[in-house]
Amino acid sequence: MKTTLNGTENGWQRVASYGELEKTGQLTVQAGEQTLALVLHEGQVFAIDNRCPHMGFPLDRGTVRDGILTCHWHHARFDLASGGTFDLWADDVPAFPVDLREGELWVNTRQNGSRHARQCERLEVGLERNLSLVIAKAVLLQEAQDDPAGPFRAGLTFGTRNRLDGWGQGLTILTCMQNMLPQLEADERPRALYQGLSALANEVSGEPPRFAIRPLPGAGRDIETLKVWLRQFVEVRDEQGAERCVISALEAGATRQQMADMLLAAVTDHRYIDVGHPADFTNKAFEALDHVGDEYAAPALTCLVRGFAQATRMEEDNAWRYPIDLVELLEAAFELLPEALAAGQGKTWTGRIALAALILEDDPAATLEAMLEALREGATMVELASTVTYAGALRIARFHTSNEFGDWDTALHSFTFANAIEQGLRRAPSLELLRGALDAAMSVYLDRFLNIPAARLPRPNGASAPAEESLAALPELLNNQQQVNEAGGLVADYFHAGGEAGPMLAMLGRLLLREDRDFHTIQMVEAAMRQIQLLGPGEEGTHVLVAAARYLAAHAPTVRAQGQTWRVARRLHRGESLFEG
Ligand code: FES
Repeated sequence: MKTTLNGTENGWQRVASYGELEKTGQLTVQAGEQTLALVLHEGQVFAIDNRCPHMGFPLDRGTVRDGILTCHWHHARFDLASGGTFDLWADDVPAFPVDLREGELWVNTRQNGSRHARQCERLEVGLERNLSLVIAKAVLLQEAQDDPAGPFRAGLTFGTRNRLDGWGQGLTILTCMQNMLPQLEADERPRALYQGLSALANEVSGEPPRFAIRPLPGAGRDIETLKVWLRQFVEVRDEQGAERCVISALEAGATRQQMADMLLAAVTDHRYIDVGHPADFTNKAFEALDHVGDEYAAPALTCLVRGFAQATRMEEDNAWRYPIDLVELLEAAFELLPEALAAGQGKTWTGRIALAALILEDDPAATLEAMLEALREGATMVELASTVTYAGALRIARFHTSNEFGDWDTALHSFTFANAIEQGLRRAPSLELLRGALDAAMSVYLDRFLNIPAARLPRPNGASAPAEESLAALPELLNNQQQVNEAGGLVADYFHAGGEAGPMLAMLGRLLLREDRDFHTIQMVEAAMRQIQLLGPGEEGTHVLVAAARYLAAHAPTVRAQGQTWRVARRLHRGESLFEG
């Protein structure tokens, strides 16, 4: 039954008379809260949202020709009938059915289909086309949904399928961002996901896709055999054979811990491969599964092994062989690991600080002997690895700014590798993986020139400002280049004045996100956040965050173009008019 002319019926609303539209060919009308552009073109009436989906320009100011409406701001073109765009960076504009009833135009603004499905589709388009603004808008639209891991799942699915080289920096950044969400202020969380997804889209753009390898046919092989084969195939750089072992182990029902055990053994069979990146990627893949579950294990874990097989091995690197053959020292130490661990059973170790100091010194043989001794004295695998991670953080906390700028990355690689090994040992402790802790110590040793001279660790001078003042001073400080020591000093002052870890982590997260994404800085801040949760805000935790703040300060400010895209998306999301300034 029809209602009054101004009423509504099943979503239909009377918006204008046909006569009014006929006079001008174009009208702007209101349908509830929605502003529509009505267009009479070649005898047909069309209704579309009046707001250009790209950046909000009024589409009633556009030009219609041959059934296509062109927006006058950035010239995006839309099919009048469907609202679909020919310029994918602009997004489709909602189009609505129109009915002519006794000379009156009725429009139905009730949208068909699931709103959530449309948002997911927009995110997929943004990822596929590497469109940051589309990604940002889709993340903001999904934020309100009761599915906080939705964008992360979409990114994981996209990234693991579409890059032949498999797991790389993009998926690592995305996982870092997902990991950091709880430490960030609520309004920074969608921004973190947007940055992670944009980094992923950027990395995948133009890459050949990946086609998954199927598991071995028939009854499942036993996991131990598959682990042996995996390591054997990685050894001879046979990436397909290695991948088939991984997918077959999953098919045979391997648990997440068993998968971690086999992959982390394979990634540490050679010394510090690709400066630690494959080990960090492996750790991140398991952290990704912690967020989304084993349903994603096959794509996430199989796409790691190409990186294992292709990696540079430090056995091939001059600095690891001459003048001291670190590989030979390490292999001798590996032989002694079982005996050292057995001797330490039931004992309690207290030599953490002394060992960290020794790792930073100039004697790799003494370091390895001290690490074995620590195990004999009762150090657990995790305690030993955590000590190396701390030493790696101290390298950065004491990195002197007279070094070459690129060497920040050298120190960073050792720290994040050590962190990855430590987290791996927490997940799936094994003698094989413990080798990685010794490798990490050798890498920290090799970085010793970065502390010559060493920057002084900031210490309380008795005149510290209140914690809130130190915290509040950080954003302005990092608007200027190379405030490395000053940034470390503010973090130390904050904790010396009794500040709690939470606000400092939120601040470091905010300062990270306002800069353009940078893989290593993201790795640094995320690993430091992980570490302080394990260490607490005592002296060691302070040192780790001093290192993170110094690293961040060395890489700030950037041009902050990512932030500009994010602000545009957020203003559009709030319905603000960008074209009016
Ligand atoms: S093309 Fe319409 S606002 Fe950019």
